[in-house]
Amino acid sequence: MNVSFYGHTRQYHGIKSEIDANIQKVLESGQYVMGPMLKQFEAEFAAYTGKKYAIGVGNGTDAISLTLMVLGVKPGDEVITHANTFFATAEAIWIAGAKAVLVDCDEKTRCIDPKAVAAAITARTRAIIPVHLYGQCAPMREIRKLADSHKLFVIEDNAQAIDARGDDFRIGELSDAVTTSFIIQKNLGTFGDGGAVYTDNATIDAGVRKLRNHGSSARDHHSFGFNSRLDDIHAGILSAKLKHIGDWSDLRRQWAARYDAGLKDVGSIVLPYARPGYRHVYHLYEIETRDAADRNPLLAHLNQKGVDAKTHYSIAIHKQEGYPWGKDAEIRGSLANAEKNAASCISLPIYPELTADEVDYVIEAVRSWKR
Ligand SMILES: Cc1ncc(COP(=O)(O)O)c(C=O)c1O
Repeated sequence: MNVSFYGHTRQYHGIKSEIDANIQKVLESGQYVMGPMLKQFEAEFAAYTGKKYAIGVGNGTDAISLTLMVLGVKPGDEVITHANTFFATAEAIWIAGAKAVLVDCDEKTRCIDPKAVAAAITARTRAIIPVHLYGQCAPMREIRKLADSHKLFVIEDNAQAIDARGDDFRIGELSDAVTTSFIIQKNLGTFGDGGAVYTDNATIDAGVRKLRNHGSSARDHHSFGFNSRLDDIHAGILSAKLKHIGDWSDLRRQWAARYDAGLKDVGSIVLPYARPGYRHVYHLYEIETRDAADRNPLLAHLNQKGVDAKTHYSIAIHKQEGYPWGKDAEIRGSLANAEKNAASCISLPIYPELTADEVDYVIEAVRSWKR
């Protein structure tokens, strides 16, 4: 059996008529950029997230960098995030011209460690970017407390956890703005690139709207900006998919529970840790080998068995070749947890359209590996 890492075409076939109808609607409208479908999706997405404003942008990286720019973050300002997030979180800080301060993650959740953040705050810190990594919320209450006592902005990078929740908080409740990515493989993904910012802050809304469209909010009037819009075809695809996101998350959680049950007694690996009371939506089902030396052999074994397992992310940001490319960056404190994660992580296939037989096959493939 082969088990692929992604189920994009299966998902398309599952709701083909809904997606095709929206694409057709856009094509027939004659308006493909900043048209009515984008407006419709922005309204639907704002309602879904419980925020006053949602702004579609070109991708999740721009969602972060444009938000930082609107908040006035500038060269010399420090923005704290963690070293084991996807590269783009730090990249967006550099695009905005600020200094990326990289701290460690929590040993169990792999989300940002609030103690490491607290130790990294200086008089130049302007913002914290917690990432809801792998589909589980970062510890937002602790981050909010730090932000309040030091008067910092908080931007949640929610590229990986649409439909997740904390135990007693929703995403967006404890921050200035939330950013997300709609790239193909995300839990809510289109057939290409896309992203959004959502917020209750009218200044962020107006600012990002302007920056995404060549600094323009009225025809022929411009200030400095970018071309970073969410195309209407993508908005139509996302509008169709948004209606299913709750069910899809439930299925991801169901497959994660099946992996948990099937793998819990495998001593050579550590399973993903779900915080009690949190709704983890398993963008990734990330296991770690207890011994980093086991990672590549286990990964090769799975691949050889036809299981398309991958790594997220096997090279931490500060270990990338050429880091930091002349950009402003600093490591504060130990990054031991982030480095252990990079050295030992393996992502098993997880998406709503998997079958029980496929999940069981992956479980057996892991279990059949001998050190
Ligand atoms: C945590 C995180 N932040 C930011 C991004 C950037 O999103 P995009 O690829 O749409 O620019 C991604 C995904 O790609 C991501 O996983």
